[in-house]
Amino acid sequence: MQYAFVLGRVHTLSFAEIMSVLDQADPALGLTDNPASIIDASYEVLIVETQKPLQTERLQKKLGGTIKILQICDLIKKREFDSVNFALQHYFKPSTLKKSFLKDYKGKIQFGISLYLLNEELAQKPRESFQPQGQKNDRSYNIFIEPKKIGMMIKKTLTETGASVRLVLPEMNSLSLASVAVTGNLLLQKGAEVCLLVGKDKIYTAKTLTVQDFEDYGRRDYQRPIRDEKQGMIPPKVAQIMINMSGAKPGSTILDPFCGIGTMVQEGLLLGYRMIGSDLNKFAVRGSEQNLEWFRNRYKIAPGKYGLEVSDATKVSEPILKSGHTISSVVTECTLGPIYSDYPSKLDIEKNFKDLTKLYEKSFIEFSKFLPQKARIVMCIPAYRKGRGIYEMFPSLDFANSLGYNLVSLIPHSLAKKYKFLRLTDRGSAIYDRKDQIVAREIVIFEKQ
Ligand SMILES: C[S@@+](CC[C@H](N)C(=O)[O-])C[C@H]1O[C@@H](n2cnc3c(N)ncnc32)[C@H](O)[C@@H]1O
Repeated sequence: MQYAFVLGRVHTLSFAEIMSVLDQADPALGLTDNPASIIDASYEVLIVETQKPLQTERLQKKLGGTIKILQICDLIKKREFDSVNFALQHYFKPSTLKKSFLKDYKGKIQFGISLYLLNEELAQKPRESFQPQGQKNDRSYNIFIEPKKIGMMIKKTLTETGASVRLVLPEMNSLSLASVAVTGNLLLQKGAEVCLLVGKDKIYTAKTLTVQDFEDYGRRDYQRPIRDEKQGMIPPKVAQIMINMSGAKPGSTILDPFCGIGTMVQEGLLLGYRMIGSDLNKFAVRGSEQNLEWFRNRYKIAPGKYGLEVSDATKVSEPILKSGHTISSVVTECTLGPIYSDYPSKLDIEKNFKDLTKLYEKSFIEFSKFLPQKARIVMCIPAYRKGRGIYEMFPSLDFANSLGYNLVSLIPHSLAKKYKFLRLTDRGSAIYDRKDQIVAREIVIFEKQ
């Protein structure tokens, strides 16, 4: 079986998360001991082959960084100068559409088209190189008109069979439909989203199986009784990605020793872990209590699955050892230092890095007292955003090495080397940022030796 995962905005994190999840045998997700193999990948999609069908609904809920999961239908060869619609002109026959794409639906068929690129250059190539044969002088031709052309071609084919059809197209200058458009237009219930994964010399045709539940992510973030804009909260999707990279076995216990108002704890519960959250600030812990009470009822979490403590992370072994819990991983958005409205001075940044190094050092010594060998610490550390893709990064994480922890690359080096679109830092971490924020999050993974 072949599937494509449509990657989120921070595609390196999405890629790392998918690879971590697919790497672990989990029958509930359809994952066997034989790992999925990568067929193709770009900054937009990751295509894999699995031995057994995947439980895509469950996988979609689990993966914070995946926008859609598609099933690959066919692979069509094309010449580099062929346009997409030219290459597919004989492909979308009524029988193919019926067999491979459309839901058996009696009313008006709703279908949408999305194009994803397997090669970044395709969006920037000179227009002439995409000219369908015989149209060499038509300079208006460009790849952004392809969804419309293909959509119209499919619509015509279906209409000729007597079907009533509504076509949903990506917005101007976009090649793909947002999940909100797929959900809002009921494409998966009343027809299909037809996806074309376009490379220079091939096109994979695919149909969308699931899309990310953007409404639920919004609810988990904004409908909580307590929010803390001052300290900041980690987006639920990023919390999920971090937990998924922890390697912790489902059902085991994860600690967030800088839990704030409990985002990591809630996301861990939803992923089927037992969670312990602690924080130095008793008001934050109270906020976590209120949020988790709301969360537990809203998401039907069984009682007794989480615990909350007021504790300094540099002394957290005491309550943990007292509780008798075995902690399998630490996953945390550690304090990132002061929040700035203007870019801080070099001196401020240096001081912050120095203070945080001391805090991390003391905390790691504590974690050593209860973490087993090979356990992972997945954490966010600050990176100051100087410009697009340019950061003042934490200077050195060598303290961890001397305390018995190795840095682990989020993506194996061999893959990072092969797929040049991945944006890993030199130390194998990745940065999650938003353009309105001065302090970005660098996500790092340590493993206890
Ligand atoms: C960025 S916030 C974490 C927010 C959290 N991820 C969330 O989404 O709600 C960092 C937290 O670290 C806590 N903190 C700072 N120093 C600490 C320490 N030494 N021990 C434990 N918690 C600490 C702060 O009180 C704050 O709640």
